[in-house]
Amino acid sequence: MRVPVIAANWKMNLSVKEAGELADSVVKIANSLDDREVLLFPGFLQIASVFVAIHGSPVQLGGQNLYFEEKGAFTGEISALQLIDSGCTHVLVGHSERRHYFNEDYEVVNKKVRRALEEGLKVMLCVGESLEEREQNITEMVVVDQLESAFAKVSAKQLSNMYIAYEPIWAIGTGKNASPDDANHVHELIRRTVARIFNEKTADAIRILYGGSVKGENIQDLMAQEHVDGVLVGGASLRADTFSEIMSFKID
Ligand code: PGA
Repeated sequence: MRVPVIAANWKMNLSVKEAGELADSVVKIANSLDDREVLLFPGFLQIASVFVAIHGSPVQLGGQNLYFEEKGAFTGEISALQLIDSGCTHVLVGHSERRHYFNEDYEVVNKKVRRALEEGLKVMLCVGESLEEREQNITEMVVVDQLESAFAKVSAKQLSNMYIAYEPIWAIGTGKNASPDDANHVHELIRRTVARIFNEKTADAIRILYGGSVKGENIQDLMAQEHVDGVLVGGASLRADTFSEIMSFKID
């Protein structure tokens, strides 16, 4: 039985005060839900206020990015150890916005995955195809390539500290979401790929989240799918009312 995960990616939104207040509201709801994991990814500058808000609660905290070097002269970057020092246990790696706007290639994503795991952070690796790739019917190839490259030199044991988020780029922030069936199909492919690269046990245990226009209206259908173990939520996680609807989905 895989424990469901509800994760919020706040991207480049919210002030320190707003993030702290939203985290307070999330904590109140999460305190009454012990059968799911709730995870927040605020901006770097909001991590401290969110850390204060979630302290002592079951809500977990992660960074949206990290740099792959241990430390040193890398102006403007944030290391795995600095995230841990600020109270983070998790980090997002390979979000499509990082891959596309900041040119993070397969090698960079792999280096970030390895550094984060080495230092003891749990990694949420994001994968997903663009609209063009979907129209060319190469979704499966793209997702498998992203997985294989990200997993280079990663061990099966380390995979217990990873989650995969499948986020079709055309569904992010667009209001269009993959149908629950389509999402399940790609999630199954992801699980099979993990089984092929590592082993069945690892593949059975890994949590695979869906992301892309998740909201109160589609959470129930998405979570009903066999291979959908959670959701990574952008827009709808920025308000307590819309995020609480998602967090409080019913587990059958
Ligand atoms: P969205 O973003 O929910 O606003 O589509 C999801 C994400 O990019 O993680």
